Amino acid sequence: MQTVSNPVIPGKSSVRQTSSHFSTLVVEKTTDNQKRMRQEQMEPTPAAIAESHPKIVIKDMNFFYGTVQALTNVSMPILAHRITAFIGPSGCGKSTLLRCLNRLNDLVDGTRIEGKILLEGNDIYDPDVDVTDLRTRIGMVFQKINPFPKSIWQNVAFGPQLQNVRKRAMLDEVVETSLRGAGLWEEVKDRLHASALSLSGGQQQRLCIARALAVNPDVLLMDEPCSALDPISTGRIEELLYALKERLTIVIVTHNMQQAARVSDLTGFFLLGELIEYDDTKTIFTNPSDRRTEDYITGRFG
Ligand SMILES: Nc1ncnc2c1ncn2[C@@H]1O[C@H](COP(=O)(O)OP(=O)(O)OP(=O)(O)O)[C@@H](O)[C@H]1O
Ligand SMILES: [Mg+2]
Repeated sequence: MQTVSNPVIPGKSSVRQTSSHFSTLVVEKTTDNQKRMRQEQMEPTPAAIAESHPKIVIKDMNFFYGTVQALTNVSMPILAHRITAFIGPSGCGKSTLLRCLNRLNDLVDGTRIEGKILLEGNDIYDPDVDVTDLRTRIGMVFQKINPFPKSIWQNVAFGPQLQNVRKRAMLDEVVETSLRGAGLWEEVKDRLHASALSLSGGQQQRLCIARALAVNPDVLLMDEPCSALDPISTGRIEELLYALKERLTIVIVTHNMQQAARVSDLTGFFLLGELIEYDDTKTIFTNPSDRRTEDYITGRFG
């Protein structure tokens, strides 16, 4: 299996790599620290290993809808067990990039992609890739809250049933675990066979998250998951994301700057299909290197 051991952001000199996330060693002065550093060099910690092996690497990506280019030369790693936010003005290509990550754009006629997207080192656009399997590993939650017009139980059991899980006890267990994972179990455990459409908007979005979790994905893509929700429901989903990153890698598109600043570890700022700046979230929001990022986050445009 091909692995990516040294993640870089090639191709865009204006894109700054985040030092805190990509360097495993910090130079310290004392002898004790030097000894410790040497030990750490020999035995990288699990966290350092995870950080130097990104879950996804996007390399020199261009994307076209017919003759219209929606993404230009995008390169970035998506780190495992981190929340990465994509921000930028409407039409800059955030959703397009998100959909490229699980090949949902394959369903749009006349689209073309150049470059590579590697999931744990393997190109997801390789002709041998089973797209259904890929979309199981990389799940998606949409802005438009879209539960099926079926019961709560059936919504969550849907994916496992497609994967031929038939035993009722196993399905019940997956439904409970997934609803617990989505922070919804306590609210719905006594009405699992009621219609999903009888839930509130915030509950329905958590149900959609439970449905995505039920097939045990590695990565969760979320396109403005809170844009239709009130602040309390939004807060619940943000807490949930924080808990879920223990087991998942999360990419979230948001127009809400406070949300990006609150929940994400890394933030990429996009403009007109280009990744302008990608860094740890604190740096993007307090000390961005590009004037255009600063203008956007301070509300001067977009
Ligand atoms: N199915 C499509 N066919 C043709 N062009 C499309 C299609 N979907 C998106 N585009 C175009 O691609 C560009 C990027 O769109 P995209 O939806 O990725 O932007 P976005 O950053 O997610 O915007 P928003 O914040 O409004 O959701 C836009 O110019 C858009 O009009
Ligand atoms: Mg969008």
